[in-house]
Amino acid sequence: MDFKKGDVILDYYEVLDIIGEGNFGKVYKVRALRGRYKGKIFALKVANNPYALEYMWKEAQALILFRHPNIVSLQSYLYRKDKNELYLIYEYMDFGTLKDYVEEKGTLSEEEALRVLSHIVNALEYLHSRGYIHSDLKPENIFGKKVLNTIVWKLGDFGLIRIRGEASILDVKGTVGFIAPEVFRGEIHRSSDIFSLGCVLYYMLTGKTPFEGETTLERKKKNREGLVKIPENLSDKMKNLLSKTLERDYQKRFRTAMELKEYLIKERLI
Ligand SMILES: Nc1ncnc2c1ncn2[C@@H]1O[C@H](COP(=O)(O)OP(=O)(O)O)[C@@H](O)[C@H]1O
Ligand SMILES: [Mg+2]
Repeated sequence: MDFKKGDVILDYYEVLDIIGEGNFGKVYKVRALRGRYKGKIFALKVANNPYALEYMWKEAQALILFRHPNIVSLQSYLYRKDKNELYLIYEYMDFGTLKDYVEEKGTLSEEEALRVLSHIVNALEYLHSRGYIHSDLKPENIFGKKVLNTIVWKLGDFGLIRIRGEASILDVKGTVGFIAPEVFRGEIHRSSDIFSLGCVLYYMLTGKTPFEGETTLERKKKNREGLVKIPENLSDKMKNLLSKTLERDYQKRFRTAMELKEYLIKERLI
């Protein structure tokens, strides 16, 4: 079911805008019309096909358990059995995605990139310590929210979340440019999130993924190989951080966000 501006969803949420059209559902900016949240703005996602339902259920089941300042929170969810429709209602992230931010602003300073990184490391630490792997870390899935005069960055889109040790993957579902090389071989670990986070850091500093190419096929091939050329014009500390997070052999990489955070603190990067 698609909605347009002015429509009222579930007799409760007025559609103010259509803000995203992801793989699994349309996302709307809505305002609650009644009740205890009257006037409050939310993001509302609706599964747009049966296939999407599976992913959105998984996202809802995970998100409902999480409470962390750097994870987009799920305010509520609703399943309409008669129509087989699932609605997820999230806190509204008014600053948009990290992807839009870098596209508009251009590359970030090392200082700012490290600030964003530290927020997402905190979110990952929360997930990794509980045995979860996000498996779809990329700038589009990192959201900003204005809080007083700063921006708080939060991790969102848990459609591909998995639990450590679950059966290995048969098909690669992440986004080319941000996937750890072992994932192409059907293996995924918490350290695969660390590699993707390294790609996000690279993106903030250069405006590009580490695996650019003329065609999708070429980008995919480079990503699969996982060989990264570290940019020259960065501080030594930043170059070291990039090469340690973008280590192609996952056994030599930081194993978890906890290990990465320890390193960041030890090196006085955060
Ligand atoms: N909580 C939110 N606040 C603001 N915008 C959001 C929110 N959640 C999603 N969006 C917008 O919708 C897009 C798709 O949402 P996402 O959760 O990433 O789903 P998909 O799995 O479809 O990629 C995002 O890239 C963003 O533009
Ligand atoms: Mg997404």
